[in-house]
Amino acid sequence: MRVLVYGMGVLGSYLAHALIRGGNDVTVLARGKRAEQLKQDGLVIRHYFQLKNTIDQVKVIHELQVDDHYDLIFVVMKYNDFSAVLPILAENQSQNIVLVGNNADAHGMLSILQEKSIVKKNVGFGFQISAGTREESGRVICIRGGGQMLLGSIDGEIPFKPLLDHVFKEAKYKLSYHEDMDAWLKSHIVPIVALNSIGFLHNGDVKKVSKDKRLLKQAISVMDEGFEILEKSGYTITPASQVNSIRKHKKAVYYALKIVHKLPFMKWVDGSFSEIAALFDSFGKLKQPLNIATPHWDELENKAISKFYSNKH
Ligand SMILES: NC(=O)c1ccc[n+]([C@@H]2O[C@H](COP(=O)([O-])OP(=O)(O)OC[C@H]3O[C@@H](n4cnc5c(N)ncnc54)[C@H](OP(=O)(O)O)[C@@H]3O)[C@@H](O)[C@H]2O)c1
Repeated sequence: MRVLVYGMGVLGSYLAHALIRGGNDVTVLARGKRAEQLKQDGLVIRHYFQLKNTIDQVKVIHELQVDDHYDLIFVVMKYNDFSAVLPILAENQSQNIVLVGNNADAHGMLSILQEKSIVKKNVGFGFQISAGTREESGRVICIRGGGQMLLGSIDGEIPFKPLLDHVFKEAKYKLSYHEDMDAWLKSHIVPIVALNSIGFLHNGDVKKVSKDKRLLKQAISVMDEGFEILEKSGYTITPASQVNSIRKHKKAVYYALKIVHKLPFMKWVDGSFSEIAALFDSFGKLKQPLNIATPHWDELENKAISKFYSNKH
């Protein structure tokens, strides 16, 4: 199958590797330095737990032309980067697209893709359950765990499910389908925003986070309020266990967060805050008509966003 991976950062690179392993005809779209590295060195992945490196040769393109045709396109990038590529995808003649990553506006993105396209677009939304980092040179992607994606559509069942199953059949990569992907993605944003913000306020020093009792407690209240924003907006928290733990077992969650922030893997989390700022912004739009008080959420958002903008200047 002709597959394009659009966005060759940490998770797009791993996905491209898995698709190549699965015997597909894979092209990747990358830009700038990353495109040059991929052409020169191939797709280099360090599989942290398997103690091995792999190098795949890939076809690299810089732009998607209107007439380029792929059976399937995966777009793997940060939430705030999707808006720039949606018009390009809408214009392109390929029909089957999966947007992979955090997403607070799946419905808005679906509308752009469908309304601006000359062909019928089938759109899925996915979240790759992996963690990784790009090494400083940018050349090597180091991946810890991987090989799994949760995905679904937001307007009925994904019509190209057989195609997806076929593409991943030999890829040693697990696909799990979810019937309410929009609710899953929005629910996932709540802990992501809270935990990334407290990490950001301590400049990524997770040990400091683990010792900051007030901030950890605030993160729990922020999650509680974040779930309330979703519930009042008519969403079902998915999986429901998240909200139950936050509301009924606050103490246990507090100690779990304290321990988790002492573990080495917390350092693997990508430190870029622009995506979190965009997610806060989208939640602000959800919250606005509700007229509910979210003091912990507002305080954390104000602190983190002020720091983000003062770092930028
Ligand atoms: N990394 C993780 O461990 C992890 C874990 C779980 C979930 N996630 C989520 O998964 C999503 C993807 O994360 P990631 O870590 O793979 O992000 P990333 O490393 O930042 O990769 C995104 C890639 O997209 C490219 N890109 C952005 N805008 C583009 C454009 N207009 N045209 C072409 N390429 C463009 C970037 O290019 P440049 O290289 O030029 O910047 C970058 O290579 C995010 O929502 C993230 O939060 C990540």
